[in-house]
Amino acid sequence: MDFKQNINKNKLPKHIAIIMDGNGRWAKQRGKERIFGHENGVKAVRETVEAAGELGVRNLTFYAFSTENWCRPQKEVETLMELLVKAIHNETPELVEKGVKLAAIGDIESLPEKCRKELDDALAKTKDNTRLTVTVALSYSSQWEILNAVKIIAREVKDGKINPEEIDKKMFQRFLQTHGVPDPDLLIRTSGELRISNFLLWQIAYSELYFTPVLWPDFRKKHFYQAILDYQRRERRFGKT
Ligand code: IPE
Ligand code: IPE
Ligand code: MG
Repeated sequence: MDFKQNINKNKLPKHIAIIMDGNGRWAKQRGKERIFGHENGVKAVRETVEAAGELGVRNLTFYAFSTENWCRPQKEVETLMELLVKAIHNETPELVEKGVKLAAIGDIESLPEKCRKELDDALAKTKDNTRLTVTVALSYSSQWEILNAVKIIAREVKDGKINPEEIDKKMFQRFLQTHGVPDPDLLIRTSGELRISNFLLWQIAYSELYFTPVLWPDFRKKHFYQAILDYQRRERRFGKT
């Protein structure tokens, strides 16, 4: 079946968020170290970005490293950070060429300096691109993001810049890391786990959730198309009848 052909181009999700999971298990199945799975996950990211660009999806967000992931063995964290630097470095020319804007959410300050530098460089090189925005969530967790927003708002209230009565949904969203990007229409999680793991909790209030057993390093364009087709078969009611 040609999944791509069946996608309705007029009903594309404006924003697809992805929890890339299962790298470690993928490696384990092959008798390798977990990092081998992370290395092989890069190709899946590339394929997904390419597929989104070809279809005309305007926003993609990848959960690449969570606040909680800092608690993994130091060796894995270090190698993941190195891999990240390498991947950003290698992929940036392609992003520039394809009109992709890179963005980052999360506690970027907490990343190793080398990683921040590579990221800053990629953000600067792609900042004027408009075809597709690819956001990577790095040292991100939704609870961190919400608490961070609350702290900023509390300070502004204290300084008399915000009247507490004015705090509404629209204002609150301005203080989230994702401001300016529409909420995800579709959230994909690979590897068969049925949980959100502290990702975009505010933003997915009305997102459609799609879970697939495919492990992230095996995720290919056809899996991405399948998720979009599933999304397009659903009826979104947003609390109405
Ligand atoms: C996802 O794969 C990548 C990151 C969280 C960085 P995992 O590393 O969580 O792989 P599994 O879930 O242990 O198989
Ligand atoms: C979620 O995956 C985080 C990322 C994909 C970056 P995890 O593998 O860390 O989540 P849990 O531990 O299974 O909930
Ligand atoms: Mg995992």
